[in-house]
Amino acid sequence: MSARLQRSVTLVALGVALLVAGCERPPVETLQRGYRGLGMVEVFNPRAEAVLVSQNQAPASIPAAAPGGPPASAVFKNVQVLKDLSVPELTRTMVAMTAWVAPDQGCAYCHAAGEDLSSDSLYTKVVARRMLQMTRHINADWKAHVADTGVTCFTCHRGQPVPSEVWFKNPGPATAQGVAGNRAGQNAPSPQVGLTSLPYDPFTPFLNQSNEIRVVSTTALPEENHHSIKQTEWTYALMMHMSQSLGVNCTYCHNSRSFVSWDASTPQRATAWYAIRTVRDINEQYMDPLASTLPPGRHGPLGDGPKVNCATCHQGVYKPLFGANMIKDYPELSGVVIKAVAEPAPASAGAAPGGVLARILFETGKKDLSPESMKAIDAAAAALKGNAGLKVDLSGFADKTGNPSANLELAKQRAFAVRDALKAAGVADDRIVLKKPEFVVAGAAGGDAEARRVDLVAAK
Ligand code: HEC
Ligand code: HEC
Ligand code: HEC
Ligand code: HEC
Repeated sequence: MSARLQRSVTLVALGVALLVAGCERPPVETLQRGYRGLGMVEVFNPRAEAVLVSQNQAPASIPAAAPGGPPASAVFKNVQVLKDLSVPELTRTMVAMTAWVAPDQGCAYCHAAGEDLSSDSLYTKVVARRMLQMTRHINADWKAHVADTGVTCFTCHRGQPVPSEVWFKNPGPATAQGVAGNRAGQNAPSPQVGLTSLPYDPFTPFLNQSNEIRVVSTTALPEENHHSIKQTEWTYALMMHMSQSLGVNCTYCHNSRSFVSWDASTPQRATAWYAIRTVRDINEQYMDPLASTLPPGRHGPLGDGPKVNCATCHQGVYKPLFGANMIKDYPELSGVVIKAVAEPAPASAGAAPGGVLARILFETGKKDLSPESMKAIDAAAAALKGNAGLKVDLSGFADKTGNPSANLELAKQRAFAVRDALKAAGVADDRIVLKKPEFVVAGAAGGDAEARRVDLVAAK
């Protein structure tokens, strides 16, 4: 071989090596998840999978505390959440929390050295108390998503004070001012959305606010669908994040013949629907309010605090820690024991024909369901499941503010929102009756807040 030929062979080999550097070395295996021929398969590489498995192991549980001992609230001075534990149990929880959140810093991360353990002088302790409440809330009230597997501090923290997967509001890359500089939140390849040039912050609109995710028309002609291509791109950006966080393809949840149809989707899509609401709830009720407790160094470029997305818990795995159940060994984090004592389950409340199962209130001009509303709807769904003979009548109402025909439409949309949530909670379509004549614009009996509502009334 002449020296010149040799050089070009080397160059070609180098070129090929560069080209395939972004690809994975085989083998690539597939796992069929839907009917044959639908392309509903998961693609994975056993080598990458082995790494993922080793990175996502739950730590061994600490041996249970000795039974007995005085209640923590009788001995300690400032126990507000873990009141119902015994002293040995509280101490065990503290040891576990230290291992999960601050193994290098120890107890001193939350309890200032030299001060009484009851002191709240460190912000970390104040945040940790709220985190205890949040963990209980997720485990007790979002079972439709986290099931009995649940979460502990470790699910997010993995031995670090701030979880590795958090997000902040993203101001985007610095650009020229004016028309040339407006990227509409996109065209800047971002790792959050699989390095595509889809919008780089799909989190603010969907995981912090409750903007509409569903964009596809359900009618042949674009009658009532006013969603733009731009909005659709935001939906796709969120979907890229969800797929990436769970380490799955779109077909884990959808049959690509119709991304819209729930009937053609897998049960995981329904879980994901709840998951989106779980994350919104965590960010709204816990992360946003905590931002002001954090020192400035913890804030993002726009001054907001760190927030949660699907990756915070999942970290590339379809179930966090491959579904390892940690709360069975830490029942104090499940919240259920405590709840059973504090407020009896409302399963049978109003569950007789004519009884009001729930009254869902709305903000002016809005049809969004708040986390409290979701809870009330879940309770109503539970009551319906416990009473097979009952149906539910839905009546939507709007207040008198603004245009009357728009209000009528709003009342209807509110009833639709409640119907969809009931269906997602497992109530069959034929048990939900939309009371057409009652999409009324109500006067102010009980004030306008009461007028903006949907009533769920039990019926035969
Ligand atoms: C990640 C933060 C964190 C770490 C680390 C931590 N604690 Fe705590 N500790 C708390 C919080 C929060 C409370 C209050 C719990 C409540 O209000 O229910 C608390 C309360 C206590 C109390 C009750 C004090 C009183 O009189 O009110 C004791 C005792 C205690 N911790 C011991 C420990 C020990 C020992 C360690 C180390 C093994 C430890 N803690 C590590 C957050 C932490
Ligand atoms: C759903 C995920 C999640 C769970 C579960 C969770 N945390 Fe956090 N935690 C976060 C995020 C995100 C932050 C950063 C935002 C903040 O501080 O408000 C954080 C911050 C903290 C901080 C402040 C750390 C610092 O240095 O600023 C402490 C302390 C903490 N968590 C303790 C706990 C404890 C204790 C538990 C379990 C009882 C727990 N967390 C459960 C997500 C979680
Ligand atoms: C983990 C489950 C899951 C995965 C994976 C997933 N989706 Fe979705 N998708 C959902 C859910 C849930 C909704 C409805 C969200 C809502 O209504 O709040 C949805 C909605 C959509 C919609 C809007 C449908 C409509 O009714 O307008 C499109 C389009 C879509 N997904 C495309 C995709 C694409 C493309 C991928 C892969 C990049 C993907 N999805 C991956 C769960 C998933
Ligand atoms: C607070 C932690 C946490 C966060 C945040 C979280 N998940 Fe989950 N998720 C879990 C746990 C725990 C399970 C396991 C439940 C079980 O064992 O069935 C789970 C299960 C799921 C499943 C069912 C998987 C299967 O194969 O059955 C889907 C789908 C899912 N999550 C989607 C999401 C999406 C989408 C997001 C972001 C919008 C998200 N999750 C955010 C904790 C979380």
